[in-house]
Amino acid sequence: MAPWAWTWDLCIALLNGRFARIDGRGSGCFRIAQGSTNLFTDQSEDFSVEIFQRSPLPASCVAPEELKQQSSLHADLLWLDIPAISVLAFELKRCLSRKAADPVMEEEDRNRRMRYETDERRIKGTVVLMKKKNLLNFEERLDRRIFRPPDRKVSLQLISAVNGDTDAKELRGKLGKPAQLEGWNSANTPLMSEYFTFSVTFDWDEEIGVPGAFLINNYDYDEFYLKTLTLEAVPGHGRLHFICNSWTYLPSRTPPALQYYRGEELVNLRGTGTGELEESDRVYDYDLYNDLGNPDNANHLRPILGGSTEFPYPRRGRTGRPLSRKDPRCETRLPFSESLKIYVPRDERFSHFKMSDFAAYALQSIFQFLIPEFEVLFDRTPSELDTFEDLLELFEGGIPIPDNNLLESIREKFPLEMIKELLRSDGERPFKFPLPQVIKEDKSAWADEEFAREMLAGVNPVVICGLKEFPPTSKLDPKLYGNQNSSMTKEHIKDHLDGLTVDEAMENNRLFILDHHEALMPYLRQINTTSTRTYATRTLLFLKRDGTLTPLAIELSFPHDKGDQLGAVSRVQTPAEKGAEGTIWDLAKAYVAVNDSGYHQLVCHWLHTHAVTEPFIIATNRQLSVLHPVYKLLHPHFRDTMNINALGRQTLINAGGILERTVFPGKFAMEISAVMYRDWVFPEQALPADLVKRGMAVEDSKSPHGIRLLIEAYPYAVDGLKIWSAIRTWVEDYCSFYYKNDEVIQEDHELQSWWEEVKNKGHPDKKHESWWPKMQTREELVETCTIIIWITSALHEAVNVGQYPYRGYPLTRPAMSRRLIPKHGTPEYDELEKDPEKAYLKTITVQIQSILGISLIEILSKHSSDEVVLGQRDTSEWTTDMEPLKAFGRFGKRLKAIEQEITEMNKEERYKNRIGPVRMLYTLLQPSTELGLTGKGIPNSVSI
Ligand SMILES: [Fe+2]
Repeated sequence: MAPWAWTWDLCIALLNGRFARIDGRGSGCFRIAQGSTNLFTDQSEDFSVEIFQRSPLPASCVAPEELKQQSSLHADLLWLDIPAISVLAFELKRCLSRKAADPVMEEEDRNRRMRYETDERRIKGTVVLMKKKNLLNFEERLDRRIFRPPDRKVSLQLISAVNGDTDAKELRGKLGKPAQLEGWNSANTPLMSEYFTFSVTFDWDEEIGVPGAFLINNYDYDEFYLKTLTLEAVPGHGRLHFICNSWTYLPSRTPPALQYYRGEELVNLRGTGTGELEESDRVYDYDLYNDLGNPDNANHLRPILGGSTEFPYPRRGRTGRPLSRKDPRCETRLPFSESLKIYVPRDERFSHFKMSDFAAYALQSIFQFLIPEFEVLFDRTPSELDTFEDLLELFEGGIPIPDNNLLESIREKFPLEMIKELLRSDGERPFKFPLPQVIKEDKSAWADEEFAREMLAGVNPVVICGLKEFPPTSKLDPKLYGNQNSSMTKEHIKDHLDGLTVDEAMENNRLFILDHHEALMPYLRQINTTSTRTYATRTLLFLKRDGTLTPLAIELSFPHDKGDQLGAVSRVQTPAEKGAEGTIWDLAKAYVAVNDSGYHQLVCHWLHTHAVTEPFIIATNRQLSVLHPVYKLLHPHFRDTMNINALGRQTLINAGGILERTVFPGKFAMEISAVMYRDWVFPEQALPADLVKRGMAVEDSKSPHGIRLLIEAYPYAVDGLKIWSAIRTWVEDYCSFYYKNDEVIQEDHELQSWWEEVKNKGHPDKKHESWWPKMQTREELVETCTIIIWITSALHEAVNVGQYPYRGYPLTRPAMSRRLIPKHGTPEYDELEKDPEKAYLKTITVQIQSILGISLIEILSKHSSDEVVLGQRDTSEWTTDMEPLKAFGRFGKRLKAIEQEITEMNKEERYKNRIGPVRMLYTLLQPSTELGLTGKGIPNSVSI
């Protein structure tokens, strides 16, 4: 018999109040009733405590050795929220019996009892909490000042762990009298992230016996995070210390009394599937992407994504907004002015002070004010960029704005201090942007070697493939698209293969391809009906002896004038340096960049990280209790994603939004991403599987990560595999603690429901795919969780943070093109020969407004001071299970070591792809970061 016995006390408060809400960070089980109380007019409405129960833990649940050294009572929780009434649930573990016959303890208890008896039957307590930083905008703050409840306070009530409430139908603990935090009203003003200590005095009711839990009610507007409650001299028990913390239990190991509430809480989180969801709701549900278009605006009609074989898509979070009258299949859109109010479950809202909040405002402002204003401005001044120097001037001298009224109006509408820095009024030109890193050290961004290097160490290093056949053939249906096979011939490349034949080069894994032809060709005819004129491209590359790549040929294709069935019309360009051919070669590379930029943003960034992750978040919250170990494992990796995705639907990826304005497929952008989702295969998101599939590596059990890279110096893969393996080891250690064998996986009904829901409700358009892990073994769980963490952390970072540093110079990395290569004998061709810069600029659209948008986003994406990167958590008390804590510590150490390894590799000249001709080190997968625009650091989640 263990010397310690433990008891579970669970308290759940049922609240009335539509504003009641909880930031579920680490909370236990709780629920909130969906009420309709108007906080401002009916402040007196009470909430009721619904449930309180306790029951013994199974005998096998013995406190870890380390915990025995800690205080005897622990609570889980709590974010208390605006405006008040929130309460919650917290779970408590309490030591009922101490080590037998401890004379020191017995003496202490005697003393405490004596103290209590002399203190007029009152119990003194101390509460430590941290106020949340106020993220409200000015108007909201003002509203809340005006409508502030007159009697704002925070009160606590003790709940008995041993005596039930005789008036209640079910077993629930006796509730003590409310006691208020002393001095609360006088300590409210500075909203800083500092700890505050408050006293509280409880009237002691003997029927409480032993406090096993407490309710805390916040009637004020300010949110806070409760850290601890310490009770002094509890009769018969002495000092009791509650630490807000989370406990972890598999469903089968959960104390019986908790199981019901654990399940009930999940029912609440799943909601009813009906009605419009409000700000205070904590309901996670699924919906189609039927909110991107606007049926009432003929220019903004867009297909519904998801729910069809034509446009399959991952699901998004449901908002329940009314459906359009004109097209009831579509959800109505929020007015633009209310963009930031788009529903996401309360716990998913940005709840911390970070750049994302600024970014949200900035995106809104850019969209609402700047882009239209600048479009007007640049429509009036179409000849601003005639030479390459004009563009450099943008970076070095700022954007010229002749209209001072415009500037003033932007300044007025753009109140953020950070933005004001860009809108200079000190005589300097406004909108002066930092020189993108890629041209900072060296102006070699035009070099073929840099063009190729960025396929291995740029912002989109996830598309390049090993070439397995020459000429490349197409998998597009010939009945629909005719002959789409490549028109490249051996003649095009044979003299540049280091003495090898084409077949020998392929056999020796020296040929690679960046193929955007397959993805884009089916849409090219439509895309070219917009202001875009572009090609679908295939780029062939050769791996040189020094480990760098060089482009051999670029094939530019577009659909036949007389119909798709007649196949592609293609031309093949090979490297040239001088004359018209040199300009055309540069243009060919630019078209590749245009293709790659759009594919990157739509598919590699948005679809493969943001969009595919959201269903996992929804399913996790609906099916895994906050007590569940897998919930705890994944939760940090879901931070802010639903919020940024929702804001994205409102301002970025919607019809006419920023994405459509800044990627070449224009209004077809999102439906192309839906077509690309057809090819998404969950297990292939694992980095090793992805590399093998792309022919960039082969399986090799003797290699450290189980695969051998075919380009040894492939920085994304080299760094990525280190990170991947570190994540996998951590996940394996963690899962092995809770799942001792496969049977435990199979019997975990929450886990099984979670996985079923991921497939059937989160990614239902792919539910019949045979590749889904069956989730019957620990190995499958480990691989699955590793993939999710990889996608949300390192993969997102690899394709996100380098956007401005690598792609901020639109001459070599344009995102749009507006005409095809001029034909021989035309005036345009003559101009191309005589004035190549002008011809280049006329072909490649340098959109100042898009530079503006990207630049601002980049500036706003600077790492903030509270960034939580891989290997860190926002609290060190995220679990009390010591083995997982130790494993997490090892994970952090490993990541630090990786950091150092990458730094060392970056110093070695022999790794040429790490620095390239532009002298720009590959740092995107360095795990840690400092504050600011660092171009490195791996945040835990997809948060921007
Ligand atoms: Fe992102």
